[in-house]
Amino acid sequence: MRLVILGSGRGSNAEAILEAQKAGRLGAAQVVQVLSDRADARILSLGERFGVPAAFVDPAPFKTKLEGEGEARFIAAISRCAPDLVVLAGFMRVLKPGFLEAFAGRIINLHPSLLPSFPGLDAIGQAWKRGVKVTGCTVHYVTAEVDGGPIIDQAVVRVEPGDTLEALTERVHAAEHALLPAVLARLAASRN
Ligand code: GAR
Repeated sequence: MRLVILGSGRGSNAEAILEAQKAGRLGAAQVVQVLSDRADARILSLGERFGVPAAFVDPAPFKTKLEGEGEARFIAAISRCAPDLVVLAGFMRVLKPGFLEAFAGRIINLHPSLLPSFPGLDAIGQAWKRGVKVTGCTVHYVTAEVDGGPIIDQAVVRVEPGDTLEALTERVHAAEHALLPAVLARLAASRN
């Protein structure tokens, strides 16, 4: 199962996937390319470290969505990799119909809340401010509804008495780092 990972920042989830692959925990899933819409994103440094091609793709002309020329460049770069699955791991752009149709049913996203609660930006902060007692993270298929596609799996994180937003954020990230590689391994196994 050929994976292309898209991310915009730190890349800790891409790193968790690549670590799992190195440790033989991804089964038949294999990362063939890492792509970012930000030339200075840390996620791109993972390429050299793990021996996987990593590249910046210019997302212009829009700032928060992928449409027009930028979308066409991403579609071309991803299509060249012949992916079975496009994995959004912290890719902070809204995808439009052109992209969604190019990889229909083959795009999954990681989100740091128990969807359908707290879609959108700053999901951990939203949950924290709302005072929930459990939150977590979700892996779901991507559809035109932002953070709204069919849920594949979730992990629960409890908000503990005396918690801080920073401590909670760290535990949600830790849960993500376990959940996403596990989902990928399961999806790879279910294809056989
Ligand atoms: C992750 O927490 C992921 O759930 C979130 O961005 C972070 C990326 O971290 N994604 C979203 O909020 C998408 N709506 P990383 O770059 O360290 O993997």
